[in-house]
Amino acid sequence: MSEVVKVERRDAVAIVTVNSPPVNALSAAVRKGIADGVKSAQADDSVKAIVIACAGRTFIAGADITEFGKPPQSPSLHEVIEVIENSSKPVVAAIHGTALGGGLELALGCHFRVATKDAKLGLPEVKLGLLPGAGGTQRLPRAVGPEMAVTMIVGGNPIGAAEALKNGLIEEIIDGEPAVGGEAFARKALAEKRPLRKLRDDDSKLAAAKADKSIFTNAAAAANKRNRGLEAPLAAAEAVSHSLDQSFDQALKSERELFLKLMNGDQSKAQRYAFFSEREAAKVSGVPDGTKPRDVKQVAIIGAGTMGGGIAMSFANAGIPVTLIETGDEQLKRGLGIMQKNYDATAARGGIPADAPAKRMGLITGVVGLENVKDADLIIEAVFETMAIKKEVFGKLDQYAKPGAVLATNTSYLNINEIAAMTKRPQDVLGMHFFSPANVMKLCEIVRGEKTAPDALMTAVAIAKRIAKVPVVVGVCDGFVGNRMLAARGKQAEKFLFEGALPQQVDAVVTKFGIPMGPFAMGDLAGLDIGWRSRKDRGIKSEIADAICEAGRFGQKTGKGYYKYEGGSRSPLPDPEIDKLIEETTAKLGLKRRQISDDEILERMMYPMINEGARILEEKIAARPSDIDVVWLYGYGWPIYRGGPMFYADSVGLKHIADRLSFYAKQTNDPSLEPTPLLKRLADEGKTFASLAKG
Ligand code: 3HC
Ligand code: NAI
Repeated sequence: MSEVVKVERRDAVAIVTVNSPPVNALSAAVRKGIADGVKSAQADDSVKAIVIACAGRTFIAGADITEFGKPPQSPSLHEVIEVIENSSKPVVAAIHGTALGGGLELALGCHFRVATKDAKLGLPEVKLGLLPGAGGTQRLPRAVGPEMAVTMIVGGNPIGAAEALKNGLIEEIIDGEPAVGGEAFARKALAEKRPLRKLRDDDSKLAAAKADKSIFTNAAAAANKRNRGLEAPLAAAEAVSHSLDQSFDQALKSERELFLKLMNGDQSKAQRYAFFSEREAAKVSGVPDGTKPRDVKQVAIIGAGTMGGGIAMSFANAGIPVTLIETGDEQLKRGLGIMQKNYDATAARGGIPADAPAKRMGLITGVVGLENVKDADLIIEAVFETMAIKKEVFGKLDQYAKPGAVLATNTSYLNINEIAAMTKRPQDVLGMHFFSPANVMKLCEIVRGEKTAPDALMTAVAIAKRIAKVPVVVGVCDGFVGNRMLAARGKQAEKFLFEGALPQQVDAVVTKFGIPMGPFAMGDLAGLDIGWRSRKDRGIKSEIADAICEAGRFGQKTGKGYYKYEGGSRSPLPDPEIDKLIEETTAKLGLKRRQISDDEILERMMYPMINEGARILEEKIAARPSDIDVVWLYGYGWPIYRGGPMFYADSVGLKHIADRLSFYAKQTNDPSLEPTPLLKRLADEGKTFASLAKG
């Protein structure tokens, strides 16, 4: 008898139940258990129908990703599906939670599928750099048509039960216990003598696209429109296309070949690493086991500017009501107006339902005056980035907030311990550093102050997850993890302009690497005046950046910055005026410009940042290299198929990186570029950053 799959009889119906927490993934044991369960029911004459259901929170969520890259164990998922599909007795998949990847493929091998109303069904393999490898690219087009199948498989997003019903992916929506609903359906199928539908033999939904290929090719092209260098979605579309031009068996072989190529490739390795790194990041080290987050029912946000507005929208998007606090009616009106416009634009594009803007804005209550925080369990401050103002606000919060409320600041750089010291409850104070635009970007750096209580910390982690953010716990330092590493890159970018490169050359290298925006285009987007003002305050000079601001070029908002922007467009265009300004400024400083190769640009954009990452690990500002990678993946658009800067560093080789850093330290006369002790040690020992996680 299997440990993870039980077979139970309810008269003539055999219920095969998978119970392999947390998500019933198709491990070797689960595969064998299901195959044996179905075979035994098949062999038993008194059994007339079979139901496959799952215990716990979900139907099968896919192949067991931890088995990838290890020697295959039999039975394969193909073999299990074959046993099911070839059964002479009806097999019903009773789905609840999520039927994903191999889980949905197994269900597609069943003759009938039913699902609870909140179930989700999908083939998300592309998100792991893969494609459905157990017949999904062939059976899904036969279930829902190739047009919808290619959209689902290339996009990787699951659909809900109602849509699945409408498109023929499931037969019925069931209430209550999935096994009970599945059993009722099985009895009905028996009573009605429903013919067993084997999707492999049913080409009816392929006919239209076989006659007119453009039906498929248009859908495939639309699904792949925003591809950004990923291999899997292209391969997935190719695999689905074989449902139209190859026999089922041939197409299965093609699918297998494409799947194996992806699975053994670098992109999928990086994407699988990213999947587990994201989940690892939520496991906070240094917190006693069993620490429970505090209850959060009411949330207040202070400041309705760029960030406060975006943060409020993130809560409203998750259905959580927020109080948004400003200093005056004017500021409030402006902030709420921007949010309304933002929602309306998304609804007009079809990104959210037409009634969503009103519903979501209805969850946001704008008020004036800090005393309005009194009922909030969580308060997030997003006022101007000035220590004196933050201190004043936290002093007042201490006065008004109820005991036990978590007090968070969205500061980008400031010292959270200093802010916490303004209150008599530093244990309740921490950072929740969101990224702009806060309603879109998924990262939230949770900054742990030196006195932050474990349960306050876990409250921030839990709430971040509730609003669909990816939380990463970091320590206090200037710029935390992300901005601190970004500064290391920014310093090199700026130097390049003095040494001989132009903004467009530097940005092109960075975007070619897969990061959506280069440092100069990003500066233009954020606004160059902020840095200029801060340099002036600190008495720091940066001749080129200063000259650009002195010319009134503050970036996109003034239509000109490092680039020019024409006709209100956001696309950066190289500007000969800037080339001239850079050349004149360097000439004035008596600097000799040189040709700089793209290789040098790439190395000096990436390696100093990696070096800073190593320093961050040394200082224990981040607990694990993978946490740093998650910060970059979700906060700065690092391409997922490159895993993150620390993963990338391992793939390049730390010895090479350390050597090149030493070389550039000498070439540019900048000792701060020398490899940090940690990087140097790992390089000398031939080790990787990943080896640190393994202890
Ligand atoms: N294999 C192995 N472990 C898995 C897994 C899988 N397919 N899916 C989830 N897990 C693990 C997670 O790593 C996590 O482990 P941890 O607790 O030790 O960190 C645990 O299950 C719970 O996962 P989540 O924290 O993500 O739980 P949620 O409830 O938030 O989400 C989920 C559940 C929606 C199922 C989400 O885990 C998910 O999206 N999983 C991946 C689904 C997927 O990509 N399936 C396709 C796999 S590839 C495939 O099937 C190939 C086939 O075509 C041959
Ligand atoms: P912003 O200038 O757009 O908004 C700040 C808002 O706070 C203004 O509307 C102002 O009226 C309000 N405010 C000031 N004092 C207040 C008070 N005492 N009570 C209530 N409201 C008050 O600034 P932005 O960009 O939203 O930044 C806010 C914080 O978020 C800063 O700490 C910043 O460093 C941080 N941050 C900014 C990011 C960005 O890209 N803009 C990214 C991540 C963090």
